[in-house]
Amino acid sequence: MDELDQFQNFDSLPSTNQYCMELLSKSNPIPFTAISADFQTQGVGQFGSTWISDQGQNVMMSIIVYPDFINVSESFKLQFLASLACVEVLTPFIDGNRVSVKWPNDVLVDQKKIAGVLIRNIFMGSVIRSSVIGFGLNVNQTDYPGLNSMVTSMKAITGQEHPVPEIRRLLYEKFISLYKLLEKGSSLKELYMMMLYGYEDPFSFYDMKDQSYKKGIILDVMGSGHLVVDIGGVVEKYDFKEIKFMMNENE
Ligand code: BTN
Repeated sequence: MDELDQFQNFDSLPSTNQYCMELLSKSNPIPFTAISADFQTQGVGQFGSTWISDQGQNVMMSIIVYPDFINVSESFKLQFLASLACVEVLTPFIDGNRVSVKWPNDVLVDQKKIAGVLIRNIFMGSVIRSSVIGFGLNVNQTDYPGLNSMVTSMKAITGQEHPVPEIRRLLYEKFISLYKLLEKGSSLKELYMMMLYGYEDPFSFYDMKDQSYKKGIILDVMGSGHLVVDIGGVVEKYDFKEIKFMMNENE
């Protein structure tokens, strides 16, 4: 069967990521099985947050893959891939100079979040046995109560409605072609770094480790996902949640 046929959309699910994890625990779904939903009742975001999205307005999709060619210590490669897939979906509609990636997993337009990625890996020895890659991409919703200064959508940027099924399909296809590059040995890291907010460019952040405001320049993102920052000549390594980007006054 063609891999593009492994796609199923539901009117409503608790969470497409959770649904895929359940599929994986019960069976061996075909690679690139994709599950999407028009609505999620228990959508999950990064670090235990909730992902809320109006019915039928946005892309909520999870894809199952078996990237056993990726070592555990390089698992952030999947994040490079997922972020770039979102960027590639957006850039035909939105000027690429307005699009960036905020480490580790946010895709931004004009420094507002337009998409997020939630990856759940299952490891086998030193490699990734299976992975569920969940995407939330804001398409037509224009009101995000309490979050309007930080969140945006394709419609909010372009002024036009975009067909959610087509955008979903495009994201799926971009994901598959980037995955195949990764499989062939490309790390996708250079492309990711080019899109990264703060890469070789001063940015302000709150350092959760010593609880102080700082300015720095991103030097690198390691295969493990750690962020390497030059702070006035001192190089610091940060784990997830150890940095809070100061991008607008409401953060
Ligand atoms: C983030 O917090 O930035 C990640 C958000 C990921 C949300 C998507 S929506 C589809 C998939 N199912 C979930 O429950 N979460 C992810």
